[in-house]
Amino acid sequence: MILKTNEQVEQMRKSALLVSTTLAQIAGMLKPGITTISLDKVIGEFIRDHKAIPSFLNYHGYPFNSCISVNDVVVHGFPGKYELKPGDIISIDIGVILDGWHGDHAYTFAIGDPGPEVMQLIQVTKESLYKGIEKAVVGNRIGDIAFAIQDHTEKKYGYGVVRELVGHGLGKNLHEDPQVPNYGKRGTGPKLKDGLVLAIEPMINMGTKDVFTEADGWTIRTKDGKPSVHFEHDVCVRKSKADILSDYSIIEKVEKKNSHLYTAEKAMA
Ligand code: MF3
Ligand code: CO
Repeated sequence: MILKTNEQVEQMRKSALLVSTTLAQIAGMLKPGITTISLDKVIGEFIRDHKAIPSFLNYHGYPFNSCISVNDVVVHGFPGKYELKPGDIISIDIGVILDGWHGDHAYTFAIGDPGPEVMQLIQVTKESLYKGIEKAVVGNRIGDIAFAIQDHTEKKYGYGVVRELVGHGLGKNLHEDPQVPNYGKRGTGPKLKDGLVLAIEPMINMGTKDVFTEADGWTIRTKDGKPSVHFEHDVCVRKSKADILSDYSIIEKVEKKNSHLYTAEKAMA
């Protein structure tokens, strides 16, 4: 595993924040009737306008700037002609390279009200990400992060934790060691060290954990057709508390203001 100096971590914070800012920009555009390809176009332009490169484009042949995964699509969904409709949930995953350093994170939005069951899946998946991040401190192991996420989602709510896809180290490369599974045993796996930057990304299914890949070779869907939620943060392992390099608050501010988007707070109001 490659550890980053403080200076490098500050560079990576800029990359992560550019992704957060891009997600916030897109959050303001989300509404029924908009196509996912139009969002992808704006994502590409926004990133390039900020002197960065969309890192997913051409990564192992991936053909778009972003991954846009609607409803039962878990991750790696292709943007396309599909028009968002009320009740959809949409995960937007964006990667950038800024001055040689990668940012890679994701957020799931609800277009209109998808109903209390789906809102709970969104809420619990986001909570599980933060429970994982709490464990991303020096002296713990990867399995402590993994266990925390699985415990909160699978054990507590009976959700399906996707096994085939995992989080990862992040740096000059999109995928570095170690892998960060969303399931596992406490006290197992690689030891976490100061300056290790991780992309932690729970992918949580309402029903079965089982998924399949579509004929396009990328789009991953749940086997039972039930919805799946994906959140991802970039974090730096530190001594007593992980440093979250990406920032959901700027996305959530726009999410709150956009009347087409549903949130847990709006559900309770
Ligand atoms: N967040 C995903 C990951 O870390 C995005 C990769 S999609 C790809 O694996 F298009 F770049 F492959
Ligand atoms: Co990632």
